[in-house]
Amino acid sequence: MELFTKTLLLCLALAAHAAAPDRCEGIEFDAITLDAKGTALFFKGGHVWKGFHGPLHLSNEFFKELDDIHLVGHVDAAFRMHNKENPEDHDHTYFFQNDKVFKYDNDTLENGYPKTIQEEFPGVPSHLDAAVECPQEECATNSVLFFKGHDVHVYDIGTKAVKNKTWSHLPVCTSVLRWAEHYYCFHGHNFTRFNPVTGEVSGTYPKDARNYFMKCANFGHGGGYQAPKCSEVKLDAITSDDAGKTYLFSGPIYMRLDTHRDGLHAFPIIRLWKEVTNGVDAVFSFADKMYLIKDDKVYIYKKIVHYTLIEGYPKSLKEELGIEGHVDAAFVCPNEHTVHIIQGRTMRDVDLSATPRVVTQGVPLPLSNIDAALCGPDGINVFEGSKYYHYQSPMILATSRMAPFPKNITPAMMGCEE
Ligand SMILES: *[C@@H]1O[C@H](CO)[C@@H](O)[C@H](O)[C@H]1NC(C)=O
Ligand SMILES: *[C@@H]1O[C@H](CO)[C@@H](O)[C@H](O)[C@H]1NC(C)=O
Ligand SMILES: *[C@@H]1O[C@H](CO)[C@@H](O)[C@H](O)[C@H]1NC(C)=O
Repeated sequence: MELFTKTLLLCLALAAHAAAPDRCEGIEFDAITLDAKGTALFFKGGHVWKGFHGPLHLSNEFFKELDDIHLVGHVDAAFRMHNKENPEDHDHTYFFQNDKVFKYDNDTLENGYPKTIQEEFPGVPSHLDAAVECPQEECATNSVLFFKGHDVHVYDIGTKAVKNKTWSHLPVCTSVLRWAEHYYCFHGHNFTRFNPVTGEVSGTYPKDARNYFMKCANFGHGGGYQAPKCSEVKLDAITSDDAGKTYLFSGPIYMRLDTHRDGLHAFPIIRLWKEVTNGVDAVFSFADKMYLIKDDKVYIYKKIVHYTLIEGYPKSLKEELGIEGHVDAAFVCPNEHTVHIIQGRTMRDVDLSATPRVVTQGVPLPLSNIDAALCGPDGINVFEGSKYYHYQSPMILATSRMAPFPKNITPAMMGCEE
C-alpha cells in the first residue's frame, strides 16, 4: 500500500514535470494571439507564456475560467478581435475550447461567456485548430479566419457570412498569429507566412519559430536583424501616410512605428516594395501614394492591399520632380501639396499639384547632415544620426538661422536598445 502510494505520488510528480513545456525545445503551440496591450500569448496545454521571452505560467493564473479539467485549461485557438466599429468587441481576446468560446476584456471574462461557438460565430465548426483576425485593410472586410485541418472558414464580422476554403498547400496550422500586418501559420516548431486572402506562401518557409518568436540560447533573433543601440541609430528615411501608418527605413530594413503597442520589428524593404532592392535615400507620402527615392530614381507605389509600383516607374528625379543630385530627406506636411526636399544644406520645395513639376523655392538650412524628416500635425522632426530636432513648421525650419536643442532618439520611438 505504502509502496503504491509512493509510486502514485512519483507518477504524479513526473506527470506534473512532463506537463511543464519548454518552448526552446521545439514544441507545437495550441494557440497564439496578441492581447489588448500587444503582448503575444503562447498557449500549450494548461500553460501560457506572455511575450517573446519570460517565464511559463498556468493559463488559469490569468484566465481562471479556462480551467475545463482542473489544471488542464487547454486552448484550441485564440485571436484578438479587430472591429473598430464595435468598441464592445474591438481588442477583446477570444479563446476557443472544444465547442465553447470565451471572450475576455484583458483578464476579465465578459458576462454571458462562455458561449457555444455556434451561438457567437454561426457556421464555424467546433474543435478548431487555430483562429486569426483579419482587418478590412488586409481582407477587404473585417473578418476572422478559423482553421481546422486544411479547411479555412472565413467569417465576415459585419454580415456573419462564412466562406469555406481549403488550403491544402499550407501545413495544418495548430495556431495562427497576425503580427505587424503579417500572417503566420505555426506547425510543429516551425512557422510559414501566408497571404490571408489567397493562402499563398511566398519566400522560404517553413522557418524555425525559435529564431524569430522567442529568445532561446543558440537561436538567432529576427533572421539576422539586430536592433541597434539608440546612440547608433541612423535612419535613411521616415514617412507617415494619410492613414497614419508610419514607416522608418534604415539600410535594407523597414519598421512600422505606429503599431508600436504590438512591438517594433524590422523587415526587409523588398518584402513590401519589391522593386526597391538597394535601400532608400528618402521617402515621402502624398495622396495615397508613397514615393521612394534612391540615387537618381523615384519609385511611386500605390497601396491597394499591397504596395504596387505604378506602371512606368521608376523614373528619374529630374523627370518626376525636376531636381538632380543626391536627396537626403523629403517630407510633405498633412493637407499640403508641397514636397520639401533636403539636399545637403538646401531645402527645395516642389509643388506636387503642378505639371511639370519644378522647384518653387530653395532655402539654406541651419543643419548639414540631415538623414530623414517627418512632418505631422505637431510639426517637423528632422533626424541627424541618433538625434533629432523639432520645428513647428517648414517655414520656421526654412527661416531659422540656428538649430534648436537636439533630442535623443528613444527605444519607444524606434525600437532601438537603450
Ligand atoms: C485593457 O486594459 C487597458 C489598460 O490597461 C485598457 O486601456 C483597455 O481598454 C482594456 N480593455 C481592452 C479590451 O482593451
Ligand atoms: C462550411 O463549413 C461549415 C463547417 O464545416 C459547414 O457547416 C458549412 O455547411 C460549410 N458551408 C458551405 C457553404 O460549404
Ligand atoms: C521545420 O522546417 C525545417 C526546414 O526549415 C524542416 O527541415 C523540418 O522538417 C521542419 N520540422 C517540422 C517539425 O515541421
